[in-house]
Amino acid sequence: MALVNMVDMLSRAKDKGYGVGAFDFIDIKTLEGIIEAAEEENSPVILAVPERLLGIIDMKSLTRAALAYIECTDIPVALHLDHGKSFDNIILAVKYGFSSVMYDGSSLPMEENIKNTREIVRIARAAGISVEGELGYVGRNINAETLDSDFFTKPEEAKRYVEETGVDALAVSYGSVHGMYIGKPHLDFERLRAIKNTVDVPLVLHGGSGLSDDDFITSIKNGICKVNIFTEISVRGMDRLRNELKKDQELALVLDGLKKETRDVVKRYIELFGSRDMA
Ligand code: 13P
Repeated sequence: MALVNMVDMLSRAKDKGYGVGAFDFIDIKTLEGIIEAAEEENSPVILAVPERLLGIIDMKSLTRAALAYIECTDIPVALHLDHGKSFDNIILAVKYGFSSVMYDGSSLPMEENIKNTREIVRIARAAGISVEGELGYVGRNINAETLDSDFFTKPEEAKRYVEETGVDALAVSYGSVHGMYIGKPHLDFERLRAIKNTVDVPLVLHGGSGLSDDDFITSIKNGICKVNIFTEISVRGMDRLRNELKKDQELALVLDGLKKETRDVVKRYIELFGSRDMA
């Protein structure tokens, strides 16, 4: 099956009522762990490259490695640029063979976000790949208990944004936060339901790490088709590496621990999101 367009993958998830995990990877071991988990679960999966780490990650070579791994697997995989804010990086993602990009204009005024997203959609369409847009703002490392709901996605604005840009998927804000949660998150499911009833495209939940199982299940029941996870891979990977290092063994085994920890994190989410055996 190998590389697929993300919109086809998410349309299927939307019809059948499950979620597909989008897991950020930063090196070969996290990449291997994600693919191995999806293979063992017979699940579709989205491999995401976080734009904010491109100063550390070499996009071109890591993408080539990812495409080689994707070619060697039978499960459907989408290769996605996560939180693309720079026009140049989005064009590079198209050039390097990504099957999907996110344009994140969520911190811009609505008109500018619409204008930029529309331009990205036009380019992505020509390249035959899909686009995720974001409306409303999902913060990072801020107290989830005291969020200002003014930054949450407004259903009527979501309708206009989707209609005027033509995005294939929409990231929405209804109480989640990127990074480790500070304070208890209270997701606004009524708002999510209202957005789902207003727009037709698959919805995306950002800031997955640290939400409860019930939060995920209720979100997926109410229109979320793609769930983004990164912090948990990062935190659990660091813990695992610390433990492996204590064992005083060779480097290959230490790094294998990172792959296995990533695989275990991803497998649990695949089962929770209901995408097992949906490859
Ligand atoms: P976490 O890092 O909070 O899991 O969020 C991931 C994410 O939304 C990436 O776009």
